[in-house]
Amino acid sequence: MPALIVIGSQWGDEGKGKLIDILSAGSDFVVRYQGGANAGHTLKVEGEQIIVHLVPSAVFHSQVKCLISGGVVLDLEGLYEEIKYLKQSGKLKNDNQLLISDSATLLLDLHKQLDQAREKRAEKNKIGTTGKGIGPAYESRASRKALLFSDLFEEDTILLNKLKDQFQETQYLIKHFYKSEAISIQKIFEKIKSYRETLKPYRSSDMSFLLSQALEQNKKVLFEGAQGTLLDLYHGTYPYVTSSSTLAGGVFSSCGLGFSTPPKVLAVSKAYSTRVGKGPFLTECLENSSSGQILQKEGQEFGATTGRKRRCGWLDLPALKYAIRLNSASSLALMKLDVLSALKEIKVCVAYKIESKVIESFPVSFKNFNKIKAIYKSFPSWDEDLSVVRAKKDLPQTALNYINFISAELKIPVDIISVGPSRSQTLILKELF
Ligand code: GDP
Ligand code: IMO
Ligand code: MG
Repeated sequence: MPALIVIGSQWGDEGKGKLIDILSAGSDFVVRYQGGANAGHTLKVEGEQIIVHLVPSAVFHSQVKCLISGGVVLDLEGLYEEIKYLKQSGKLKNDNQLLISDSATLLLDLHKQLDQAREKRAEKNKIGTTGKGIGPAYESRASRKALLFSDLFEEDTILLNKLKDQFQETQYLIKHFYKSEAISIQKIFEKIKSYRETLKPYRSSDMSFLLSQALEQNKKVLFEGAQGTLLDLYHGTYPYVTSSSTLAGGVFSSCGLGFSTPPKVLAVSKAYSTRVGKGPFLTECLENSSSGQILQKEGQEFGATTGRKRRCGWLDLPALKYAIRLNSASSLALMKLDVLSALKEIKVCVAYKIESKVIESFPVSFKNFNKIKAIYKSFPSWDEDLSVVRAKKDLPQTALNYINFISAELKIPVDIISVGPSRSQTLILKELF
């Protein structure tokens, strides 16, 4: 089957970008299918580091077509700046390397302002969003007021009227309910008009058709998930989630594809857990605990989009089992194993306890999550520096025991092990594509 979906199985930032860069080498198309510039995917190639937010993580491969599907909320300013930056650094040399669906939703300044105003007002009840306007942009789409990428290329009067129709209500909310400054519609109009020329070459009028043809011709298509399973709008730790469907199933609706044979799914997980923003995190190591501090420091756990410190904790196996089930994942990539070298003892959550009752499945309701305690199994760590390991046989036995335990518990093969941010620090145990 020529399609592979790569999804985050935790709360995002698992290292999806690094793997997409590697897997892109053998693919024809790489598709971002949901989310927006809340994503930050880091690519490190021969000492050069790039973080992409909207453009798929295949920019180091000039033969690959990067696609942004209709399920994405398109921060026009962010996209314009990202393309400019990528071009300056020698990527996207040919316009035909990038295609953007005409039906992607436009995310504009007023969406960002509304997102930020809500978070500010919520005080203690913040979600901890990235402030990139994701929630408000998906609301616009659901309310059928949103402008689509195709609308950007309408005549001026039509575009301006559509902007007024979409945003007068939002402006009222920002000014009168949130008592904040709202950017003028005229200003947004002038700004986005200036992006037309740069963005026009990337228009794709029917991406669903293009992709279905590509798959029929056995072209290799990689679907690049953003965020992670536990941030899914319907199946994540609601309301501390993002506003899109982050699961592998999101590909079907966002791209308009009905696969006759389901694609393979690669679930990406760190060898521990992190989360940015608020919400339940049952295996969190408190910030002042030594293990939490080591994971944060050694893993350089800072958000790639907002720079916020990531909360750190132990691997949560019931949560991973839940993610594997929701995505029908067939393989696991275990990332950042090198970071665990800095610890003496590694813990893995195998079940939870609510008062005296033991539960083995991930709790889908978080109303009383303060009463849920993780039950751990402990593993000794290792002294070796894993970042120099290039073959599985060279991993210390203690690290192999950890990996084998995870694989056996999850009933899924660990097909990729990552021991550093660069391409060469990746042990690919099975060709997935
Ligand atoms: P994404 O959002 O899933 O693409 O992940 P991010 O790019 O937000 O965060 C992953 C971070 O971990 C990036 O800084 C990567 O360069 C880095 N990284 C990826 N794999 C490894 C690894 O195996 N070891 C270490 N130490 N860092 C890694
Ligand atoms: P990548 O693709 C980690 C989190 C935010 C917040 C919640 C809602 O790099 O893995 P939003 O701005 O989407 O409304 O915020 O989701 N979040 C992410 N956390 N990685 C991401 O993307 C994220 N995108 C959103 O921190 O908790
Ligand atoms: Mg990220």
